[in-house]
Parts: sequence; structure tokens; C-alpha cells
Amino acid sequence: MIEIQTDKLSFFLHAGNVTYAMEVNAQGDLTHLYWGPRLAAHDLSHLGRVRGRAFSPNPHGCDDQYTLDSLPQEYPVYGTSDFRSPAVEVHQPRDGSRIVELKYAGHRVLPGKPKLEGLPATLAPEAGDAESLAITLRDAKTGFEVELLYTVFAAHPVITRSARLVNGGSDPLQLRRALSCSVDFIPEYARYSFLHLSGAWTQERNLFTAPLRPGMQSVESRRGASSHQHNPFVALTELGTSEEHGRVYGMNLVYSGNFLGAAEVDIDGQPRLQIGINPFDFGWLLNPGEAFQTPEAVLVFSAEGLGGMSRALHRFYRRHLLSARWVDRPRPIVINNWEATYFNFTTDKLCAIAEQAAKVGVEMLVVDDGWFGHRTDDKSSLGDWTPDLSRLPGGLEELGRRVTAQGLKLGLWFEPEMISPDSDLFRQHPDWRLHVPGRPGTLGRAQHVLDFSRPEVREEIFRQMAAILRSAPITFVKWDMNRHMTEIGSASLPPERQMETAHRYMLGVYDFLERFTREFPEILIEGCSGGGGRFDPAMLYYTPQIWTSDNSDAISRLKIQYGTSLLYPFSTLSAHVSHVPNSAVGRVTPFTTRGHVALTGAFGYELDLTECTPEELDEIRLQVAAYKTHAQLLLEGDLYRLRSPFDSNESAWMVVSPDRREALVTYVLVLSDCNTANRNLPLRGLDPARRYRLSGTERIYSGESLLYGGVELPIPDRDFRSHQWHLVAVE
Ligand code: DGJ
Repeated sequence: MIEIQTDKLSFFLHAGNVTYAMEVNAQGDLTHLYWGPRLAAHDLSHLGRVRGRAFSPNPHGCDDQYTLDSLPQEYPVYGTSDFRSPAVEVHQPRDGSRIVELKYAGHRVLPGKPKLEGLPATLAPEAGDAESLAITLRDAKTGFEVELLYTVFAAHPVITRSARLVNGGSDPLQLRRALSCSVDFIPEYARYSFLHLSGAWTQERNLFTAPLRPGMQSVESRRGASSHQHNPFVALTELGTSEEHGRVYGMNLVYSGNFLGAAEVDIDGQPRLQIGINPFDFGWLLNPGEAFQTPEAVLVFSAEGLGGMSRALHRFYRRHLLSARWVDRPRPIVINNWEATYFNFTTDKLCAIAEQAAKVGVEMLVVDDGWFGHRTDDKSSLGDWTPDLSRLPGGLEELGRRVTAQGLKLGLWFEPEMISPDSDLFRQHPDWRLHVPGRPGTLGRAQHVLDFSRPEVREEIFRQMAAILRSAPITFVKWDMNRHMTEIGSASLPPERQMETAHRYMLGVYDFLERFTREFPEILIEGCSGGGGRFDPAMLYYTPQIWTSDNSDAISRLKIQYGTSLLYPFSTLSAHVSHVPNSAVGRVTPFTTRGHVALTGAFGYELDLTECTPEELDEIRLQVAAYKTHAQLLLEGDLYRLRSPFDSNESAWMVVSPDRREALVTYVLVLSDCNTANRNLPLRGLDPARRYRLSGTERIYSGESLLYGGVELPIPDRDFRSHQWHLVAVE
């Protein structure tokens, strides 16, 4: 997988059908040569050639044709001759300089993939799955070193990158920028577009794409969380890229905090694509001998459009990121009481819902916000994780007993990272929140953010949560997070380290989740942040499913789930059938459509089952049976997006089993029409040589006819109608 040619010191990383190549040039700079379809190792130096340009200075000792300003590089620096966006900036308090010159100092090839200290990252537990290359770059004057870690995966078109920054000198240094990855593309910018996933609360992960132009295009988070606003992902797509065609270069950051993803087009028309911790409001003091580990960037290449990129990432994340314990396990079908009751519930009400749930085959009751402290609305009690006995008179023990007696499992909501000013915890420890002394502190949803960078804070929350989880038969935790950071400061850090707070906070969250998943391995965690506000690979490492959005309306979910599926497997998208009119948008959609749209890998309900009509309960029985039938397919299958809700009045997708013997196709027409022509929906991913039976009928189709002709679409007769086809190979 890793080939090294020693005559010129060139490195070839072969990952699946992809090659990524670099070289150490005569000046000792690590140059980028190639990233694209697989090719055999041979001299590619011409791809990384450099040419002198007016107003591009020449580093000392180099001729006037050599400048870093147009040299394609792997980890560019600031301050010598490159005016583009650097990957790293190092402030040197001794003389105030911010300049380092990083020259090649050595490399090592490692079997497998080393763990990244303190951070979640993709894994390669089995021998032969992956191979890693660590290249060390060194600044002679300060002794500052960067170890670039590249891992290639034999079976995936994926390379992961991260950097370990080491102070190998004798003076303290301060990192001001420490990106995970930077790639200088050889292709011309005019042939590429910048793609990102952006949105807002209840409108997460819409697709945005714009042609590259000279200068900077970027997305970032300054909110202390990866956010609803921008996902930690950027890509370059060849002009004309579709679901099935075109080259796509994607970068996804395995990180849940502030990030920057950017494309800069330089004077030569070369794009530089970067991703990493946001340098905005970031600083990190590195004393002599200390090291800083950046989060990991996942680099994916597809020559088969966006669909090819998604399937590559989905397969990769299923095997190398998501917990092996959960990845292929059908998830419990849940009834979550949030949209059913909000804060208005008691043990009896929950048990009535559970009783009805048991009758229709639902498997778990998840008790959402409001079961603890004296929380009757969102204004109090976060931090006091003890049951509210006024609404749960026998506590969680009795609730657990009664719910499990119905044959259901029990799940529980927590918001571990938050504290309400109206809480005993706050009264005892007002300085345990993120804050700046002397400033009152901004509230968001009437709460503050706990300072998870502090071990004693984590310890106390862990103690409380562990006591609750051991007190009742709880097998599922919904981990919520409902505000972003302001007044970012930690009472435990000295002034010169305050800019480390946001990243230390994330390290604290990961440390907590490490401990939690170790001590409670059988508890499935569903991630959540006001819906999908922290839907990123780092959270998925611990929480194999995430509540995709607080917008549970089936039509809104078409875009949200389509965008989310660009990167994240269907098994990770938690989706529920909710009541109508929908509480977020007021829309009334058919029950069947809500069921079809919610049928992802993590399926459930978010409505008051005691108020459902007998017809609705019958429909729920069918939906539950459908999830049970298709769970394995939804967890393991390959996703093909057939129609985009972003550019049409309809949406369609299908999941195909890895052996291509089975597929589930879903189609939703948003607004109805009249006097329409007959239309078919061509399918993808099937085996053209097989024949498939349409479940529930005697109808047999050839694979070819489904691929090139399609299934017949129903005649529109009502708004928001959906249709599902289940196809099984007959031979
Ligand atoms: C936001 C979540 O996304 C909702 O599902 C619900 O759990 C509420 N928080 C509870 O406060």
C-alpha cells in the first residue's frame, strides 16, 4: 500500500483504487505530486514542478525560479515565500517571530494505524487493513517538528491524515494554527467547484456548491461545536459532477469543535484545500518536549461522482469508525416521548405510552428531557441528575420495572455538558461553567456550558450519571447538547492558556465518552445536539447514531437526510415518525410517507401512541414489521440517491445489499400534479444479470430492465405521497 522510491525519495500511497503521491525535493521541501485514480509508482516530479513568478520571493539560497508561493506542498508554512494560507503558525515568544521553515527530517512506515492521543479517530484493528507513513519535518532554528501521519486503507479509496506538532527546542512555543491537512491541487481551479454542507437548526446539512474562484472560500465553526451551521466537511467537485459521474475530492474532519475547511485558489490557479481546528480564537502553548496532536482528516476520492464518494465513506465509516459492537446490530425501535408530551408527563403517562408501544411491537421507551431535578420547562436543573419524584413517584426504579414488565427496554435523556443557573450544582460550583471572571455570562436556552476541560467537573457528572444508570435497567442514552459556547474561558487555566479552552473542552468530552463507553459498553448512545448540531465523525465514533434533526417533518427531512447521507451511513441517521400537524413546520403528511421517510437504520416514533387511531396503530404495526424485515439491509447496504429534493419536486433513494440480491427503493413526490405523463424511475446498484421479484407480488423484473428502464412511478393523486418497492433476487 505504501511504496517508497528512494532515488528521489518519493512516497506513493495506494488506497483502494486511489493513489496519493509526494516527494522530497532538492530543497528538502515535502511536495505534493498527485491525488487521483490509482497509478503505478514512477517519476512524477514534473507534476510538482515550480516556476518563478513576479512578486513571489525566493527562499534564501534558492534560484529565482524557486518559490514556495507556487510549489505544491504537504504542510505549508507562513513567513518565507508562500503567501497562501499556511497549515501551521508558530509564535516564538523569545523573539516574537512567527516563522518556521519545515524541511524533511526523516520518515517511518508503520504497520496498521497508531492511535491518536486523546482523540477519536478511525481504527484499523486487523492486520493488513492499513499501513501508515509518518514523515517528520523540522525547523532547524527552533527545533520545532511536525510529524505528518498518513494512513492508507487497503480496501477503501481513503487516506487519513493528521499532524503531531512537537516542541523539540529549548524555548516555549505557541501554536496559533495547527491544521490537520493541506493539499495543493495540480488541477486548474476553473474546472472545480467548492462543495459544503451548511444550514441551521431544523435545516441541517443542505448541499451548497459554487465554482471555485481566485481567493478564499471557506466554512467554519466558531461555536465550540461542529454545529448545525456547517459540517466539518469540504470537497472539490469537477464541474458537471452528478451522483454517478465526476471527480470528487472530499475532506471530513473527525472533530466536534471549532473547525475551518477552506479552499484557496492561488496566482497559478491551483486550489489549496485545507481542514482542521479553526485557528480563530485558538492558541496552544507548547513547552519544550511537549506535543500537540491535531484531529484526523479523512480524505476520500471518487471518480464516480457524489454517490461514489458517499458509498466509499459509508463503507469506510462502517468498518473503521463506528463501534464494532453496534455497527451491524439492528437498533431498538424506540418511542421517544419528547414530541408526544414535551415536559408534561408522569410515570403513569409514560407507562400508558409504553403499554400501547408494546402492543404494536415497539421495543424501547426513551424518556426525554424533564425527568430530573425540578425541571418543568427548559429553565432549570441541568447538572442535578436525580429523578423528579413529583412526576416519577417511584423514581426510575419503578418506571424501569413497569416498562420492562411490558416487554420494553428503557432509554434516558441526558444533557451532560450543561448546567442551569437554577441548579444545586451551580449554587455549589458557579465557576464550573465556561466563563470569564467579572463578566455575567451569556445564557443560551437558559443554561451555561459546563467546563468539561476540568477533570473534577467530568468526575462529578460521571458520578451522577453512573448512579442513575446503575439504579434502573437503562440500555440507551440520548446525549443532548443544546447551546453553543460564549465567554470561552476556564477557571482552571492560566491567562496564557485561555485560548486552549475550547479544544481542551472537546478533549474532555472525548475523555468522558471513552470512560462512559468503557464502563457501560452495553448502553447504546444516541448523539444529539438540538437535533443534528453535532453530526460529525468524532461523535459517531462514540454514538453510533445521531438524532438527525429536531425537524421531524417528513418533507423537511428529505433534504436533511439527503444532505446528511452525503457523508454518513444510513445506519447513523436517527429518524422518527411524528404526529401531524408537525410541531416544527405545521405540515400534515400521510402516515405512510412519514414511515417511509423515517425508515433509516435507527427508526422510531415521536408521538403519543395513546392518542393514535386504530388505523394508525395498524399502520405502526406494519412499519415496525418493515423495519424488522429491512434492518440488516438498512444497516449494511449501499445507498444510491436517485432523485434530489434540492433540485426537484421529488426525492428517491435506494439501499442495495452488499451482494446485490436485495434492495429497498423509496420515492416521495412532494406536490401533486394532474394530467401527468407515465414516468419510470431507473434504479442503480442492482445486478443486471439477475432477476428480481417485487415483494408482495408475483411480478418479476430483470435487473437490466430496472437499471435501464426503471420501476413505474405511481400516478400523482395527492401531495406528499410516497411509495416503496422491495426487490429480492429470485436466482
Ligand atoms: C433537543 C433535542 O433535539 C430534542 O429531541 C429534545 O431532546 C430536546 N432537546 C429536549 O430538551
